[in-house]
Amino acid sequence: MTTAGLHCEQLSRRVGDRLLLDGLSLSVAPGESLALLGPSGCGKTTTLRLLAGLDPVSGGRIRLDGEDVTHSPAGERQVAMVFQSYALYPHLSVLANLELGLEVRRVPAPERRRRIAEVLALLQLEGLERRRPAQLSGGQRQRVALARALLRQPRLMLLDEPMSNLDAQLRDQLRPELRALLHRAGHPVIHVTHDQQEAMGLADRIAVLEGGVLQQVGTPQELYHRPANLFVARFLGRPGINLLAGEAGVQLAIRPEQLRLVESGGLPARLLRREWQGSQQLLWLDTSRGELLLLAAADLTPGEQLQVTWKPDDELRFSSASGERLA
Ligand SMILES: Nc1ncnc2c1ncn2[C@@H]1O[C@H](COP(=O)(O)OP(=O)(O)OP(=O)(O)O)[C@@H](O)[C@H]1O
Ligand SMILES: [Mg+2]
Repeated sequence: MTTAGLHCEQLSRRVGDRLLLDGLSLSVAPGESLALLGPSGCGKTTTLRLLAGLDPVSGGRIRLDGEDVTHSPAGERQVAMVFQSYALYPHLSVLANLELGLEVRRVPAPERRRRIAEVLALLQLEGLERRRPAQLSGGQRQRVALARALLRQPRLMLLDEPMSNLDAQLRDQLRPELRALLHRAGHPVIHVTHDQQEAMGLADRIAVLEGGVLQQVGTPQELYHRPANLFVARFLGRPGINLLAGEAGVQLAIRPEQLRLVESGGLPARLLRREWQGSQQLLWLDTSRGELLLLAAADLTPGEQLQVTWKPDDELRFSSASGERLA
């Protein structure tokens, strides 16, 4: 077994009688980017705070590059964390905020300048070096916090919603560059997000958390095509997944883009509503069995009475009782 990178085993956090995190085990390799995805309140920030050493664990173990850091103070772990709120020094300029960490670690001035110039360019912050945090927009502050964490060259990088305050266009623009830079930097990265688009775009693997319990961890493709349970199936993939009654005890699910309209031989359905989404349109259908289906299709002008079909291979089957996916 390789020891480099992050390994956590059975990590738990209990506050009073509430179990915020319940036996989380996962590993992140050097240079790998893992997205922690889940609804609000599922335990994402809790997980990062345990890894950073900001809160004590109630059980389990954290190893970083082979070293047990479960009970090490935050300052000794070499873990960088970018918070949902950015925690910049308000009285210092952008440049001074960035230089501080490098000065403390006695990085020579020419190298400091080179590395700062690199992150400023990457995060499109050039020209803002002399401003103070209060003179920046939320998105700019967020990028300065990200720049500062990148400059620290930590053993583990934790990012809590690193792009939540950026507009969609800037996010799309930064995502591939940030991903490349994080790969180059070579440390394990965990970034928290609500946004599955961001998770898919930034991460090598995704871990889905719900109610403090890890539901599944895998590549974006694995989670999309082979979700472990109904929660993962419904949480991943926009605009949603269609749920259909199967034989006794079985819940069927089918993605909107796997439904097709046919001339004959399909399940009769009535068009309720349609919505353009740029490259495709979404159709809401009411089937003759009384089920509501969502279908994603390219440009076409359907009539009101339709027939819909799908390949049996594309059906996902779950136990109605447990929600677990059936083979
Ligand atoms: N110190 C604490 N004491 C008690 N409960 C807490 C504490 N910190 C967090 N919680 C609770 O633990 C749960 C997980 O919180 P956490 O902040 O990890 O959620 P999150 O997944 O980061 O959510 P969001 O996406 O909204 O940021 C929530 O129900 C929250 O109210
Ligand atoms: Mg949070």
